[in-house]
Amino acid sequence: MAILSPIVPHHVAIVMDGNGRWATKRFLPRIAGHKQGVNSLTRCVQACLERGIRVLTVFAFSSENWNRPSEEVSGLMKLLALSLSKEVQSLNANGVRIYFVGNREPLSEKVQAGLAQAERMTSGNQRLIFNVCFNYGGRWDIAQAAQRLSSRGEAITELALDRAMALAHVPDPDLLIRTGGELRLSNFLLWQAAYSELYFSDKLWPSFDEAALDEAIAVFRTRERRFGQTPGQLNGKVNGRDKNQNAEVA
Ligand code: FPP
Repeated sequence: MAILSPIVPHHVAIVMDGNGRWATKRFLPRIAGHKQGVNSLTRCVQACLERGIRVLTVFAFSSENWNRPSEEVSGLMKLLALSLSKEVQSLNANGVRIYFVGNREPLSEKVQAGLAQAERMTSGNQRLIFNVCFNYGGRWDIAQAAQRLSSRGEAITELALDRAMALAHVPDPDLLIRTGGELRLSNFLLWQAAYSELYFSDKLWPSFDEAALDEAIAVFRTRERRFGQTPGQLNGKVNGRDKNQNAEVA
């Protein structure tokens, strides 16, 4: 019998793609799609809480998103500030611990202060860890981890790098979802997604609802996660023999 994945993934990561197209289809400005994207994200956090998912990591603004038109970039910055002031209280009340993951240096002092305050306010919570990747890129993360080790004179090993990465406080994602129909990672969690199950949805992020999340989880449950092992090893066999049988022989 194959070993299937547990009922819910421990850690779900999401590339929330399709806000712009959602808005354009409705003859709305792109920022209206991002606003709807925040609503979808709020519902998603609630859905994760209800389903017992313990870690949610979302890609809210990539290192490359600075190249978008300036009004969209400033709109996303304002949306971040607004969402913080609107949502943090209720996230806190629901036991959500927020982490902002990414390079904060180019962000305004006001935004940086807001991020730090949200992290401080929710630091005692344990029900759900909510990582918001903002001004984040997978390559940036690998480079900053290597830089950190080298500045401390430490050897760059896999384990040391892993511990210096921006998501060292959580296990790697079990399920990585990308909405919006594109089939790529776009510089998200390049290191951490090595063994994540990938799930691509054609739904645009503002339309990705609880039922769509349940569908992704249902597909995840059918996946056999082998982490480089053979199916026989997973089924309790080593080199085609039962593990217990091997123990007796040994
Ligand atoms: C990709 O859609 C989405 C983003 C670049 C931003 C994602 C942000 C949110 C869902 C809102 C949460 C954000 C904050 C600030 C808390 P796209 O614009 O690339 O869509 P498209 O592919 O249809 O153009």
